[in-house]
Amino acid sequence: MKLMYELSDADRTALESASGGEKLMYCVPYNIEGDRFVKGFLAITDRKLYKLLNGELLLSLPIAESDDFRVEVMYGSCGFYVRTGGVSRLVCRFISGRNLARYSVIIRACEILAEQHGTDPITNDLPERFCPKCGRPYVNNTTICPYCMDRMEVYRKMFAMTKGLRLMMCFPFIVAIFSVVFSFLVPWIEGQAVNEYLEPLSGTERGSMAGFILIVCAIVSIDLFQRALGVIQSRCSAVSGNRFIMMMKNILYEKLESLSLSSLQRRSTGDLMGRVNNDTAVMQDFVTNQLPNIFVQSVSFLVAMVVMLVINPVMCLFIFVPIPFSIFLIKKFWSTMDLKNRRGWNLENKVNRQLQDIFSGIRVVKSFGQEKREIERFRQSSLRSARQTEKNEMLFDTFFPIVTFAIRLGSYLILLYGNILLFDGEMQLGTLHQINAYANIVYSPLIWMTSVPRHISRFLTSASKVFEILEETPEVGDISLPIDIRIHGEINIKNVTFGYESYNPVLTNVSVRIHPGEMIGIVGHSGSGKTTLINLIMRLYDVNTGSIEIDGVNIKDISQEALRSQMGVVLQETFLFAGSIRDNIAYACPSATDEMIIEAAKTANAHDFIMDLPQGYDTVVGVSGYSLSGGERQRIAIARAIIHNPRILILDEATAALDTETEKLIQDALKKLIRNRTTLAIAHRLSTLRNADRLLVLDHGKVAEFGTHTELLERKGIYYKLVMAQQKMGAIPGGGEPEKAAAKTSSATA
Ligand SMILES: Nc1ncnc2c1ncn2[C@@H]1O[C@H](COP(=O)(O)OP(=O)(O)OP(=O)(O)O)[C@@H](O)[C@H]1O
Ligand SMILES: [Mg+2]
Repeated sequence: MKLMYELSDADRTALESASGGEKLMYCVPYNIEGDRFVKGFLAITDRKLYKLLNGELLLSLPIAESDDFRVEVMYGSCGFYVRTGGVSRLVCRFISGRNLARYSVIIRACEILAEQHGTDPITNDLPERFCPKCGRPYVNNTTICPYCMDRMEVYRKMFAMTKGLRLMMCFPFIVAIFSVVFSFLVPWIEGQAVNEYLEPLSGTERGSMAGFILIVCAIVSIDLFQRALGVIQSRCSAVSGNRFIMMMKNILYEKLESLSLSSLQRRSTGDLMGRVNNDTAVMQDFVTNQLPNIFVQSVSFLVAMVVMLVINPVMCLFIFVPIPFSIFLIKKFWSTMDLKNRRGWNLENKVNRQLQDIFSGIRVVKSFGQEKREIERFRQSSLRSARQTEKNEMLFDTFFPIVTFAIRLGSYLILLYGNILLFDGEMQLGTLHQINAYANIVYSPLIWMTSVPRHISRFLTSASKVFEILEETPEVGDISLPIDIRIHGEINIKNVTFGYESYNPVLTNVSVRIHPGEMIGIVGHSGSGKTTLINLIMRLYDVNTGSIEIDGVNIKDISQEALRSQMGVVLQETFLFAGSIRDNIAYACPSATDEMIIEAAKTANAHDFIMDLPQGYDTVVGVSGYSLSGGERQRIAIARAIIHNPRILILDEATAALDTETEKLIQDALKKLIRNRTTLAIAHRLSTLRNADRLLVLDHGKVAEFGTHTELLERKGIYYKLVMAQQKMGAIPGGGEPEKAAAKTSSATA
């Protein structure tokens, strides 16, 4: 989201003379002053806040003496308020939808400036929702403005994508040229047939039957040839269309896989699937069907006009009479229809998103008995979508015959004038038939063109959505020459600050040094940033400031493949792919033999339950497969990590779903597993961390404590309180002996 708008020369001069040497950090627009719409700017330097309007400085406030920065939503607009020296005042007003999110970032920025005086400007990855050029909203979940997009650029990119298929894609155009030539040849031949052979039959002289048959044969041969070409064209279109869509899907999928987690999480699964499946299909339809059609229709229109001009210029003029009026009608109609179509697509998208959401959470829906409410909610959305589509169709169905009639008005004039000429003997019947046929050739593209804007607009939106993904630079990427290191296992986290939205840090100044082969237990309250820390070590996200080094090399310099191939993870949510248990265990190591898989399953204490399943290791699990319990899934995930044999092992609540007895077995397995590799284990149940060499306690994203179990107990800080609290809870069922339980845990960990 843009936080630094360009100032006009007058505003810049006003700001420079008022701010002197201060560093300009943010500049955002406001658009209401009094009861007028204006184009004003709020400039924020490292010291002050300046309100500028048309080269005039209206207000300046010192940030260090201000607090309580807030936005209040008013009727149709929002007000930005700041309290300076105890007095709260309205600084500026803006239209709510366009700038609300921007001002929420500005509030955070002002708070940071007020607390720390002059740091670096914060960045943010919030998407813009309105086009900065025209102010209209972007297409759902995109940064595409259908009104301001560079259409030629989209066509150019599209052309670049067709490399390798162009020859095959050219065929429909070649066939199109033939069919245009034939469509002109046939009326001419028919005209000749009537003039030379049929018309004289009614007179004294008889026409030549042989010549007439020859002409019929010519027409039949042309028709046959045209059909044969049509068959070849359909076959070519089918092949090139399918190859094109397959290529687009593959490229798009490859790109999606390379994108960072943050950009994927910004979009819903439904949206991403829509881009891979529906948008590529719209592009394919446009390239292989609509484009050749546009070409054919335009060429036939132009050629028919020229031919008509040559045969009878006056009659040709009749064709033009209704055209300006029709174009005016079509333009007017499509500007309305465009908006309505877009509304229709958005409502349709909403229905799809809702469906996906309900199916993903169907267990919750059923367990809370909310089926009826969900059915009603779905019914409402689908009703809205259906009503919009109905309205659009009705409008189109009413408009289309009107325009068709308006366009065809010229043909009635031609018929009238032609018949007058015929009666006066100035024109032959065949020529009139020929002219009529050409007039129809001119009209059919004109009528067809009324529906072209619909295809073009749909194509441009879909293509832009696809290109938006293809052109996105992954936030987490490899440097130009990444290092392929063999990881030994030392992790050095240096002064790391990170936030999923950079202005809202989740981890602040975290510094930890972990020795190779050490097992570190990470503890802390829910939401303290434990998972976030391991996400950073796995480099699923890049740190905002500071660095993470593995064996002395910044992880940004290590190739992602080398990094991840030497890390094994068992995550908080276990995900199993659709496939056999064998495939799931061997996921990161496809070359693993059956012996290795069974060995890993045995270590993870999963072998016995797998053997009890009807098909053993071949049992299909995952979506639509055999349902495993949480603990069973987790043990498969542990086996998956074991077989990977990683240098760094990450366990995020890996044993949370196991009963105490199974957990004990897993603990023993893990004890063997963690030998000789660096391990980071997150656990809420502290007894799980009894093998840890040291414990890292996170509190509100900061390192609160770091040391051995005994050291931390002696400190009597957060860790001590957590241990005591858990021992008390653990002691309740047994009849309440906290001291005994405490002694047991300490001895187990020491
Ligand atoms: N993808 C995300 N986008 C935005 N905020 C996030 C995201 N993931 C986590 N957060 C926020 O970051 C903070 C820390 O989350 P994190 O998952 O690291 O906590 P945690 O210590 O692992 O908690 P728990 O013990 O419950 O698993 C939370 O406030 C959470 O809301
Ligand atoms: Mg977590």
